[in-house]
Amino acid sequence: MTTPASRTRTTEFEEQFTGGFRNASRVKTGIIELDEMLRGGFMGGDAVLVAGSAGSGKTTLALQYLVNGIVKFGEPGIYVTFEQMPDQIYRDAKNFGWDLRKLEQENKFRLICTSPDLLLESQGENLLDEAIKEIHPRRIVIDSLSHLEMFLPKGDLRKEAYRIVSYLKTKGMSSILIWEAGQMTNSFSVTEAGLSFLVDCIVALKPIEIESSVRKALAILKMRGSDHDKQLRQFEITPTGIKIESAFSNYEGLMSGSPRRVASEKFVELFRSASEKHK
Ligand SMILES: Nc1ncnc2c1ncn2[C@@H]1O[C@H](COP(=O)(O)OP(=O)(O)O)[C@@H](O)[C@H]1O
Ligand SMILES: [Mg+2]
Repeated sequence: MTTPASRTRTTEFEEQFTGGFRNASRVKTGIIELDEMLRGGFMGGDAVLVAGSAGSGKTTLALQYLVNGIVKFGEPGIYVTFEQMPDQIYRDAKNFGWDLRKLEQENKFRLICTSPDLLLESQGENLLDEAIKEIHPRRIVIDSLSHLEMFLPKGDLRKEAYRIVSYLKTKGMSSILIWEAGQMTNSFSVTEAGLSFLVDCIVALKPIEIESSVRKALAILKMRGSDHDKQLRQFEITPTGIKIESAFSNYEGLMSGSPRRVASEKFVELFRSASEKHK
């Protein structure tokens, strides 16, 4: 898609943030419970930020979104990575039962392993053009914007991320942009990097310590133009991928990192243990 010269940046900006490139059809992740949380899936053409600390499951979620897109919904996809060696991605994906090489041979998938400066230099165009021509992707993952940030002068991430997001939208792709939050910082405060307003949807992954065990939690922090599940949901990384479980309904303070049982629960528990002692 070429952009007519008459279309100014402002027009693009307005269209983008009022939904010009978005559409009502849902882009399903194929993870049933997540699609339910999203009331059917991400919105067509949306840029989704998946934020979380290292090991929280971002790459797994993103790969599953692409593989399901291809296998279940006939939507080819591209995975752009700055962080891992390609062999490692093929191998890790295979352990989940996802044969990326086969999908590549079938022209439904492309793994693009590159350095952030190359992507920035070309604004994605030259770098992705060939793959776009070959497989006509509908979905794309960028893993990760945090790596991109390391190659940029301080404060330039927002501008570059905006350029990339705009480019992907004009190509009609729905995207997942990965943001690796530091282990010690609160992964829910993605707004610090100023990316929040750029993206249409934010999914946060977070390890949570409850009663001496660490569990994984997922929350949809925002979704433009759609209702969504507001609960913090527990999830597991299983040998077949991400599996979403029940909500942490009995706890409060999970977002702030100091979970405690809600008072009523605590009361019930105290009451129960007291009555058991008297048995
Ligand atoms: N084949 C597998 N089966 C089950 N769990 C796995 C498998 N591969 C990876 N994991 C789990 O996923 C975690 C890494 O997830 P990943 O998506 O790479 O995280 P991130 O991209 O956020 O750093 C590992 O620490 C491990 O617990
Ligand atoms: Mg990763």
